[in-house]
Amino acid sequence: MNYAISRDTKITKTYEYDVVIVGAGLAGLYAALNVDERLSCLILAKENMDCSSSWLAQGGIAAAINHDDTPQLHLEDTVVAGAGENNMEAVSILVNEGPSDIETLVKLNVPFDVDEYGEFHFTREGGHNMRRVVHAGGDATGRETIRALAYVVAGRENISFSGHTCLFDIIADGNGVEGVVVRLFDSEFHYIKTNNVVIATGGIGQLYKSSTNPIVATGDGIAASIRAGASVSNIEFIQFHPTGLWDSASNGSEFLISEAVRGEGGLLVNTEGERFMVGVHELAELAPRDIVARGIVRELGKSGESFAYIDITSKPEEFLKKRFPTIYNECLSYGINIAHDKIPVSPIQHYLMGGIETDLNGCTKIYGLFACGEAANTGVHGANRLASNSMLECLVFGRRAAQYINKYHSGPISHDDFNIEDLPPRPRGKLDYKQLRKQIQELMSQHCFVIRNKAGLQTALEQISKIYSKLESIYDDSTEYVETLNIATVAKTIVEAALKRPESIGSHYMENKGK
Ligand code: SIN
Repeated sequence: MNYAISRDTKITKTYEYDVVIVGAGLAGLYAALNVDERLSCLILAKENMDCSSSWLAQGGIAAAINHDDTPQLHLEDTVVAGAGENNMEAVSILVNEGPSDIETLVKLNVPFDVDEYGEFHFTREGGHNMRRVVHAGGDATGRETIRALAYVVAGRENISFSGHTCLFDIIADGNGVEGVVVRLFDSEFHYIKTNNVVIATGGIGQLYKSSTNPIVATGDGIAASIRAGASVSNIEFIQFHPTGLWDSASNGSEFLISEAVRGEGGLLVNTEGERFMVGVHELAELAPRDIVARGIVRELGKSGESFAYIDITSKPEEFLKKRFPTIYNECLSYGINIAHDKIPVSPIQHYLMGGIETDLNGCTKIYGLFACGEAANTGVHGANRLASNSMLECLVFGRRAAQYINKYHSGPISHDDFNIEDLPPRPRGKLDYKQLRKQIQELMSQHCFVIRNKAGLQTALEQISKIYSKLESIYDDSTEYVETLNIATVAKTIVEAALKRPESIGSHYMENKGK
């Protein structure tokens, strides 16, 4: 299948930009700010700038800027966490260029938290051998960063923004990208001609029953890139954050208890109050995420409980209120005072390490199609991402993609207009998208979670393939249709990739050696 749209799609307007960025999280906004101001740039967001995984990011941004830190030490922790599956050149770029992007954020007025001397306050997270993570608003780093960047974006004459705009398709031919087709909230379809499309659509949380990702994380950019013929890689490497706030009434998008809580002394205990990560890994609660997530799943398997606890009651209430205002208040709304009560937690889908394959400048194999942030596979994360490297990756590789476009932008658009009449027709139809999405979420949560096995993955693949076939055989111009098609496309791709990797590595853990 090449397109989600069909010959029947009524395109009501066509316009033209030098650069189109799909996604308004950190990667998208920072890429836009790095686009040459002589180029017209359009940012598209499915909702608004306050609806992205970046906005929700709590912990912070890892970068080697503490006085006793070096890019080499950061690189070593990144590669240990990534189980050595990392692209070393990409990691080296990340850790060496990252500190100057943090300086840029300071200049753009991101209000990082500072200590009593006015220096950055550094926190620690899993897999880091030192305090390396800068943060803002206590535990609201994403929100504070996006707010600051959104303000600068609004003042840039060359940047336009279109919210409530859903990507349907990337239009490309053998010569490269020609444009994108989007659906606006009022159901109009527009065609945007461009030579440069940057996919910064974030992750795939909505493939799972519960995720820390926002409800818009349906893998739209990844699925549209697959339809356009881009390659994806490492897509079986999915990070399950060990400590989502456990909620019996899970609704798909769940609250995260930041790893920084463990970085500041929080302990993981079972319902008997016993620590269970000691002895599993030398860093105990602060081991890399995949190890802690498996530690919890195994502990729950033994006890038969649905959740473990983080205990941070050793810290004074005033400290917790100031350092973790978001977590403190959200937990209070569940009747949990984190200064006095243990916090019930369980592993939850959090992050996609792989994605659309790119080189070190965000270029995909389709000329003019770029990807950055969580949607991309630059190779920096290997088989498991080191905590707080995600925002750093958005900065470094979002900027590099923009710099590449600035350097090689080929001037006015010369390709012919895309003709919708050339597309094959598909019969109009309607399916129960809510039900199909739920079925995929159940299958992915049961068979493609923290611990996987061959038989489970085969069952998932069989059933998801059937759903995918039903979806691709019809055409419907609703957002629900394209989102469900995207979820099915990406889920199928993930399970196929997982089946091709029988060995356990990093976040991809196969029982019985994949047999
Ligand atoms: C967290 O705050 O624990 C999440 C940060 C990240 O995903 O790196």
